Amino acid sequence: MQQDRDSTGQGRIMVADAAGQAAALALLRAGEAVALPTETVYGLAADATQDHAVARIFEIKQRPKLNPLIAHYASLEEARADVVLSPQAERLAQHFWPGPLTLILPRSAESRLSLLCSAGLPTAAIRVPDHAVTRGLIRELGHPLAAPSANRSGGLSPTTPEHVVHSLGGDVPLILAGGKCRTGLESSVLDLSGESPVLLRPGAISAQQISAVLGCPVASHFTAGAGEAARSPGQLYRHYAPNKPLRLEAREARAGEAYLAFGPNPFCGKGASVRLNLSPEGDLTEAAANLFALLHRLDAMPDCTAIAVAPLPQEGLGLAIYDRLHKAAAAQEESTASGLPFNAESR
Ligand code: TXA
Ligand code: MG
Repeated sequence: MQQDRDSTGQGRIMVADAAGQAAALALLRAGEAVALPTETVYGLAADATQDHAVARIFEIKQRPKLNPLIAHYASLEEARADVVLSPQAERLAQHFWPGPLTLILPRSAESRLSLLCSAGLPTAAIRVPDHAVTRGLIRELGHPLAAPSANRSGGLSPTTPEHVVHSLGGDVPLILAGGKCRTGLESSVLDLSGESPVLLRPGAISAQQISAVLGCPVASHFTAGAGEAARSPGQLYRHYAPNKPLRLEAREARAGEAYLAFGPNPFCGKGASVRLNLSPEGDLTEAAANLFALLHRLDAMPDCTAIAVAPLPQEGLGLAIYDRLHKAAAAQEESTASGLPFNAESR
């Protein structure tokens, strides 16, 4: 679709007004991928029922094909045909949708979802995003949208249209600009396909909140242990990593390090050449919304070679933030050990 690209090769950005939405819809109908806003992060979306459209996502992201995608719906009703909804799934959907909760459920026999979207698994991941423009597009299209985060595989998730341009540039035909994402962290992923619910990825909706709605315990399984099969293929891959080395739980900055602070303490990270704050008020929701944007900024700054991150509270959204930071730091250690540069895919 060369003709849809901007002549600068930077990808075409359109504001999400009527003209922008019409352009996005035309591309989606033609089986193309479009970057669009959700409340969590920008998604790289394509018709989840068309194999070749889903393949465009993998192609643009350079994503390992074994990693399945989330199908996004305008409402719970539209998902009924594609997955088997258990009473637990119904209850959670009523309570949290539209919102940042993804449910993994068995595919139905008559599911319209491309098998590529499920990466060949008998299950599918679904959610209803809390973004009126994106839900409107899904309704108009009449099909669910497969959408991973709109970044190159292994990179940082984008929370502004500029992040998408930075990561995918001219490879994405259209970026629909809808401002900064409110939540700023990918959705919580809950596996409901087994005997009991398991949280596979922490996000804005916590295991405790889910457990309170279901009235039963919810296990958490964020990383696959040694010799253990990964529950979610996404756990196998490098995610959310900036290019510069990350050092966590840092109270001060060392030579060459930029400091990513949290909260009002003016002494933490004192003396760093660059000091940004995830939330000067010490608010974890604000920190989550700022995390990727600030990591992007520090990654792009020429006068620091590494990033030191302040200690954060290990509770609620703090756990979700730590999950991203730990995965990024661990992936960097692996790629250093293997001699790969940080941003090389470690597959
Ligand atoms: O907030 C979000 O969830 C964003 C926005 C765009 O909606 N999307 C997103 O998608 O983060 P993605 O593809 O980056 O992450 C989806 C996660 C991956 O870790 C994937 O492995 C897991 O969900 N997943 C998808 N389908 C699955 C399945 N059938 N079984 C187990 N894990 C699955
Ligand atoms: Mg992602």
